[in-house]
Amino acid sequence: MKKFPKKRVVITGAGSGLGRALAIEFAKKEWKVLVSDVNLDGAKETVKLVNESGGEGFAVQCDVTKWEQVQKLADAAVSKWGGTDIIVNNAGVLNVGVMEKVKLEDWRWIIDINLMGVIHGCKAFIPLFKKQGSGHVVNISSAAGFCAMAEMGPYNVTKAAVISLSETLRPELKYQNIGVTVVCPTFFKTNLLDQTRSTDKKSYDRMDAFFNKSMGSAEGVSRHIIKCVKKNKTYAIKQPDAKLWWSIKRHFPNFYIKLQSFVFGRGILDKAMGVK
Ligand SMILES: NC(=O)c1ccc[n+]([C@@H]2O[C@H](COP(=O)([O-])OP(=O)(O)OC[C@H]3O[C@@H](n4cnc5c(N)ncnc54)[C@H](O)[C@@H]3O)[C@@H](O)[C@H]2O)c1
Repeated sequence: MKKFPKKRVVITGAGSGLGRALAIEFAKKEWKVLVSDVNLDGAKETVKLVNESGGEGFAVQCDVTKWEQVQKLADAAVSKWGGTDIIVNNAGVLNVGVMEKVKLEDWRWIIDINLMGVIHGCKAFIPLFKKQGSGHVVNISSAAGFCAMAEMGPYNVTKAAVISLSETLRPELKYQNIGVTVVCPTFFKTNLLDQTRSTDKKSYDRMDAFFNKSMGSAEGVSRHIIKCVKKNKTYAIKQPDAKLWWSIKRHFPNFYIKLQSFVFGRGILDKAMGVK
């Protein structure tokens, strides 16, 4: 990370899960971390862990759906540190269920957080990076963004949009010394299910099974993100299953859809996951 000698990072949704793990990984490398979350108590707890891990943290409450609050987050980085090197647009939620049953208000809820939250983060921090002459945008998407799974429509849609936005920004910012990395993990255990909205028990139980059977960890994904930023990679895809799906979807898109339809439609997926 020689490119960033001042070692300053801002992370949204860092009061829990991946955001917290990433804050701690940066802290171990003696970075300054602006920990933000809509849940201030969670953010404060992360700051404590950051300080115990060798970093220097401070908390700012920020709801990423509110443009003014995300602008203030960028202002806080400027007034505290004179700027920042990295913004991680991490805050996110999950919403599952069959298309016709998902309420419109739930579509708006997830689009506001998972997509508008990332848009707000990019719009608030990129002008700062341009002014500084350097910076890096990390957008947390998901493998669901390139491999749509049935009954996960709202989540798939928002995460695909985050990949598309990141792919748009990468060339847009390339010659201004601003990197962009989009992170696409499969399932790993966090508190994501706590706030999950679902239309029925079966969709929720399937997610629960995925989380419980997942092999990845927030710490592993975090370490990989830092490596990818260091190498200025466009895509951060770490887990073997994510790499496999990425490869199948890119090279054999029709096969992917047929496989999904078969495994899902015939109930094979649910049987394998122990979902009734
Ligand atoms: N856990 C997984 O399996 C997985 C897989 C792929 C991608 N992701 C993505 O990782 C990111 C982090 O999720 P996580 O798994 O750590 O879940 P988590 O629930 O543990 O953490 C999400 C954090 O976002 C915060 N948040 C929610 N709404 C917010 C808002 N409006 N403004 C600011 N903060 C808000 C929550 O308070 C929470 O602290 C999300 O974008 C998620 O989609 C997670």
